[in-house]
Amino acid sequence: MIAEKRTSPDTQEANLALAVNHLQFSYSAGFSLWPGCAKGFHAIRDVSLTLKPGETLGLVGESGCGKSTLASLLCGDRIPTSGEITLFGRRFKSLMKPNRRGLAKHLQVVSQDTMGALDPRRSVGHQMVETLAIHGIGYPASRLDRAAETFKAVSLPVSALQKFPHQLSGGQRQRVAIARALIVEPQILLCDEPVSALDVSVQAQVLNLLLELQRARGLSLLFISHDVRVVRHVSHCVAIMEAGRIVEAGPTERVFSRPAHPYTAKLLSAVPHGRRSGPRPAAAMLETL
Ligand SMILES: Nc1ncnc2c1ncn2[C@@H]1O[C@H](COP(=O)(O)OP(=O)(O)O)[C@@H](O)[C@H]1O
Ligand SMILES: [Mg+2]
Repeated sequence: MIAEKRTSPDTQEANLALAVNHLQFSYSAGFSLWPGCAKGFHAIRDVSLTLKPGETLGLVGESGCGKSTLASLLCGDRIPTSGEITLFGRRFKSLMKPNRRGLAKHLQVVSQDTMGALDPRRSVGHQMVETLAIHGIGYPASRLDRAAETFKAVSLPVSALQKFPHQLSGGQRQRVAIARALIVEPQILLCDEPVSALDVSVQAQVLNLLLELQRARGLSLLFISHDVRVVRHVSHCVAIMEAGRIVEAGPTERVFSRPAHPYTAKLLSAVPHGRRSGPRPAAAMLETL
């Protein structure tokens, strides 16, 4: 479960996939080219949250509230200003080098921008094999077989290994990105807006795939999205983010059926066709597949 302000004993943290404790981050170091953002902008403000093994924690909030900044701290792209991150009981001040390489096997990222995440000049099969080589997984002769197995697991034809990113559809590219994350066999998948760039029908297929993979592999998912309906459909627990803070967190149905914070209520009221009960649009959409 999630607690907004936690002082968990170590034993409890050891049983969690991920615990974030009082994390802070300011865009203060160096020169910022970000339009409209002054140096010293406090993007993450005392964020604490937890993710249990095999569960999904949905992080939801409006665009610009700090979701991707938090993701960048969790995957080691940026160093927190203060606070701690605990992965399977191991505490870190930062997941950046030298911790990053070893931890990449625990936590992999799937982002919205599949074109940006994949190298346009190499076949996706090459990129799958390269990922295994970078992580020192398997022997060179067996890596292509492993890539083919992972493609099957995400319902991509093995022949797609030869394609370049631009030869694939957006949905296929997102499957490649998921396969490339999975081939490392992480315990946690951090999905930052994984379906936001896709057509609605394809969104449902990719969400279904993530849920299936979670069930089959016991994956823990940190699912980041601005879309309340999608988060509600996939998450066991949710954390609501506003302007860099977690304003409310808890089991999904409790938070969405009885929001305790006005910002949660505001997010819910902005949901198109906002139904508080009955089948949710994303759920209905998934059932049609
Ligand atoms: N590189 C950067 N330098 C300065 N400010 C940034 C940078 N990246 C993002 N920001 C600012 O940090 C805030 C949070 O951004 P972001 O984490 O991308 O939000 P979200 O993912 O929720 O849309 C925004 O106000 C954004 O303008
Ligand atoms: Mg974002």
